[in-house]
Amino acid sequence: MSVAHGTCFFMTNHSPQQPIGVFDSGIGGLTVVNAIVKHLPKEEIIYFGDTAHLPYGDKSADAIRYYCIRIVKFLLEKNCKMIVFACNSAASAAFRILVDFFQGQALFVNVVDPLIQTVAQQDFKKVGIIATKATIRSDVYRLKLLEKKPELQVHSLATPLLVPMIEEGYIQNNISDAIIANYLSQKGFQNIDALLLACTHYPLIKKNIISYFDEQVQVYDSTDVVAYQMREQLEQYQLLNDQKRQPHQFFVSDYTDSFEETTKLFYQEKIHLEQSNIW
Ligand code: DGL
Repeated sequence: MSVAHGTCFFMTNHSPQQPIGVFDSGIGGLTVVNAIVKHLPKEEIIYFGDTAHLPYGDKSADAIRYYCIRIVKFLLEKNCKMIVFACNSAASAAFRILVDFFQGQALFVNVVDPLIQTVAQQDFKKVGIIATKATIRSDVYRLKLLEKKPELQVHSLATPLLVPMIEEGYIQNNISDAIIANYLSQKGFQNIDALLLACTHYPLIKKNIISYFDEQVQVYDSTDVVAYQMREQLEQYQLLNDQKRQPHQFFVSDYTDSFEETTKLFYQEKIHLEQSNIW
């Protein structure tokens, strides 16, 4: 049996005990996993970080789509009932196409749409967006916001130094503050009401950004809003798990000790990364 879900059909032969797949180009998507675990503690997570191919932010849309197809196949083979694109670069380049391609095989959620919905409901006149080069080049955020609020002024900027800066642990020091100030002092960000952190790495520097604007600008990330949207969809399809769950699993396409070390910055608990070369 199948039921309508947006423009596609979702097969209803899934069960609440199936896991949820979450993926990112690397370990940034763990900020989203933190929120999922907080809001949906009974759900089992299978995480995949494509560390062999990061950063996605510097890749072409075609390359990102190619990687995402393989990752989604892997998560479907792991029997996931829902798959979360916890990477803005991946969601911007590949979400629509992949949802059509894998239509009906799982529920699909991304980090872009819940954030757009939240921000579009506010009474803002001007907003800023910072993200990777791939996300900004796709123009997905600006176009989706303007679709909902044509009168909104939007200033977007690629901020490619932020991902390596965060991964190296430069989060609250003079260097990170200088890089953040350099990007955000651009004229286009003057008088913004809100700033969207359109990269799953950026929640780690949210506090710095709030201070940079002297708490005068609303700063949004995708973490909690994605978990709320997941709950809504799982409830809609009666797929919320209320039984005891299996332990979460964390896979990467290329293992190094330093990736495992860096997960401590992004995730509340110590985790063990398992290498799975899916190519
Ligand atoms: N976390 C990814 C995102 O949300 C960025 C990291 C990368 O460039 O691979 O876009």
